[in-house]
Amino acid sequence: MSRSIGLDETLTAYVRNANRAEHPALEACRTFTDNMGQISRMQISPEQGAFLQMCARLVQARTVVEIGVFTGYSSTAMLLTMKELHGEAAKLYACDINADYFRQATRFWDQAGVTGQVDMRQGDATETAKQLATEIPGQADLIFVDADKANYDTYYEAGLAILRPGGLFLFDNVLWSGDVADPRKREGDRDTAALYQLAEKIREDERVDMAFTAIGDGILMATKR
Ligand SMILES: C[S@@+](CC[C@H](N)C(=O)[O-])C[C@H]1O[C@@H](n2cnc3c(N)ncnc32)[C@H](O)[C@@H]1O
Repeated sequence: MSRSIGLDETLTAYVRNANRAEHPALEACRTFTDNMGQISRMQISPEQGAFLQMCARLVQARTVVEIGVFTGYSSTAMLLTMKELHGEAAKLYACDINADYFRQATRFWDQAGVTGQVDMRQGDATETAKQLATEIPGQADLIFVDADKANYDTYYEAGLAILRPGGLFLFDNVLWSGDVADPRKREGDRDTAALYQLAEKIREDERVDMAFTAIGDGILMATKR
């Protein structure tokens, strides 16, 4: 799993312990993913999971789009809150390009009792997001973007059509381990440049209200006006 930028091990442990214990399905997902080796860093941290759950609660999320599912930690976290709030009416559109990851995530959705609330959309999410913009226009309460960084702007533009007014965007990794603050890295790396340009664009974009936060590896929040 990832950890918050700039926090040492003591503070990371403090933050973790200050949150409530993870649901057993989330704990199982984290343990499974840790055993995958280096790639486990793609998974959000438990404290980010708690943050996502609070965001879902604040917007009373019933319809959610997640772009970047991996082994299912973030989707399971949000689904637990969504189902508590809305029961069977809750629905999360889970978008990922990798079929193996859906198989893995399904184990934890099953364990959490939320598989019935998931609509799996396997494929390139740049296409899926455009489809959802025509399928569920103005209907999503929350969109969590945690996939290929170079396409974040595509997800932003499609997501604006999918979100309801007052709906919430969460873009993960907008600090990119600090690289976004280094002009040379912005010039030399496509992902770093894309994250920097999106943050600049959203700051000036009158279609949304926004807050750039340093939670985890940076979460850019924006609500549709
Ligand atoms: C950082 S991981 C997501 C982590 C996940 N949110 C979690 O909490 O564990 C990024 C995911 O995006 C997916 N991905 C990357 N590019 C994609 C694309 N163009 N379309 C759909 N999914 C993509 C990858 O397969 C991977 O599962």
